Amino acid sequence: PIDKPLSGRRVVITSGPTHEPIDPVRYIANRSSGKQGHAIAQAAAEAGADVILVSGPVTIPDPQGITVVHVETAKAMLQAVKNALPADIAIMAAAVADWGVAAEDGHKIKKDGSGKPPALDLIENPDILATIGHNDTLRPMLLIGFAAETQNLLENATSKLTRKRADWIVANNVSAEGGIMGGDKNTVRIVSSEGVEDWPQLDKTEVAGRLVEKIAAFFNSPPH
Ligand code: C5P
Repeated sequence: PIDKPLSGRRVVITSGPTHEPIDPVRYIANRSSGKQGHAIAQAAAEAGADVILVSGPVTIPDPQGITVVHVETAKAMLQAVKNALPADIAIMAAAVADWGVAAEDGHKIKKDGSGKPPALDLIENPDILATIGHNDTLRPMLLIGFAAETQNLLENATSKLTRKRADWIVANNVSAEGGIMGGDKNTVRIVSSEGVEDWPQLDKTEVAGRLVEKIAAFFNSPPH
């Protein structure tokens, strides 16, 4: 039906930050609110899709009528995404931490009186989008990533498109002046093999609605 253009489609969406524990009371985090990813999940569900939202720690409520899997770390997010696949569409909107702490301390780290701060040993986290993009069994027909950048937006988005084997990258400039991280508005550019589409500044819910329309159009008239 025209009002439910994604009915029968399964969509997996990641949203929010990840937290990488240092010890039982401390973690590494980022400023992602989950607003954009959650709005996409809501819009996809309203378009009739069967949605699984894999969310990092956020303070916003779970969207209604959607299966939400709550995770903390990048590793757990990857596992939850794998469990949720296969799907027709995956949208990786989470701001996944690039690095985790090599060995989480079992106890709260204490000052040792020497005046020297402890050293944190970091290890690179799995890249969820790239892992799925390069896995022929798991890869959905349409794989969408995000690129939050503070400089060289298009170059970075284009390189992510090929490196992570995504079909589209939703690129946004997250410099502090823009107020995008945590805010309600977003200005995005959609980068694909077809070129670049510039969208005006919109509410995150409007970006979500347009993205869902673009996805519906993709499935209703697949490229030749
Ligand atoms: O490289 P960068 O983190 O900017 O890439 C952004 C895209 O890759 C986003 O779609 C993000 O969700 C995804 N990503 C991921 N796993 C990571 C890092 C990024 O899925 N470890």
